[in-house]
Amino acid sequence: MSPFSHKKGVLHAEAVPLPAIADAVGTPTYVYSTAALTERFQAVTEAFQGQKHLICYSVKANSNLAILGLFAKQGSGFDIVSGGELARVKQAGGEPGKTVFAGVGKTPDEMAQALSQGLLLFNVESAEELDALDAVGRKLGKRAPFALRVNPDVDARTHRYISTGLKTSKFGVPFEEAVALYAKAKKMKGLKALGLDCHIGSQLTRTAPMKAAITKVADLYSTLNTQGHALEYLDVGGGLGITYSDETPPSPQEYARTVLNATEATGATLLLEPGRALVGNAGVLLTRVLYRKPTQARTFVVVDAGMNDLMRPALYEAHHDLRPVVKRRGRDVEVDVVGPVCESTDVLARSRPLVLPRQDDLYAFMSAGAYGMSMASTYNSRPRPAEVLVDGAAWRVVRERERVEDLWRGERA
Ligand code: LLP
Repeated sequence: MSPFSHKKGVLHAEAVPLPAIADAVGTPTYVYSTAALTERFQAVTEAFQGQKHLICYSVKANSNLAILGLFAKQGSGFDIVSGGELARVKQAGGEPGKTVFAGVGKTPDEMAQALSQGLLLFNVESAEELDALDAVGRKLGKRAPFALRVNPDVDARTHRYISTGLKTSKFGVPFEEAVALYAKAKKMKGLKALGLDCHIGSQLTRTAPMKAAITKVADLYSTLNTQGHALEYLDVGGGLGITYSDETPPSPQEYARTVLNATEATGATLLLEPGRALVGNAGVLLTRVLYRKPTQARTFVVVDAGMNDLMRPALYEAHHDLRPVVKRRGRDVEVDVVGPVCESTDVLARSRPLVLPRQDDLYAFMSAGAYGMSMASTYNSRPRPAEVLVDGAAWRVVRERERVEDLWRGERA
């Protein structure tokens, strides 16, 4: 059951009517559901039950401390891409020993910090990065545990901006170079090969590309261990998609079946890096109507959330369903729902059938829990939204609305 549903015509998050939150903390505001977050984490855990695995929640999807803390309490590990994300994980009570570090541009400083804090695995993305990690390891008198992220050259069949597994992508090392790099790393004193990694893209809605990529990487894993390496972890990345409108992504069970079938022969401990699948449908962006603006060409509805608050529509032409918080009767008209930002791409919902709202009406952009707040900016000097976490009939602010004074923190006039 969706954690966001209408009761007596009013949209609720679990048992909390959304107008109560809007009245207390204002808009735009991100609202998350504890039940949805917990249920999704448990669903993935159950799907992999009985298999050696660790869920490493991908922090970039939503890095609020309350959400990281909630997953840490469930036993989650984390997938990070910066020193900042590692600091967040620690601040939220997560364990570096359950954390993997990806990204094509880790700095030696970030590597040193992570290594001295006992990171589980560095997912290394180039030959030069491997040299840099070796140098950091030797300097600290440690062997840095690493996996190579290989590029399996598989088309993930998702939006090209979030596809990462093709030869032309900046991510990972070319598949054919992996064997030689592991052989080279074996002679380096600051490194310890502990795993193999891949990630082909995000918002995957079909199992075929996952199967193709993971099978290829699982074979390589077995080959490497036959060659005398002692790899323990096979990191299959993240990417499991969610329903925004009419997509039918694999269920956690189907996903697990695909991964487990492909990796069966390896005996590896699986590392999973879901982001969107855990948080995407667990959050909405609450916004208020400022103005209606009928023109000859189109009817615009101007809301108080903009592309700086929810960047996905402007960046990827992504679709987020839009629901009225209080249902109105009437006939649908086609509207463009736009934000206040001075850019033509600041259209949050294009050509949507909607009963024409009135000023001050509340709306919710659905499925905004992933890559919503974590990608928000202060463009146009707009303070970023507040974040609220609902739990049953209770709710609390888990991030205050940014204040105007915060906008120039660190600046000198
Ligand atoms: N692991 C790695 C190495 C990744 O690069 C990513 C996402 C994930 C895991 C988590 O992927 P997920 O399970 O969330 O699909 N901003 C875009 C998505 C960018 C994804 C970047 N990497 C969006 O809003 O659709």
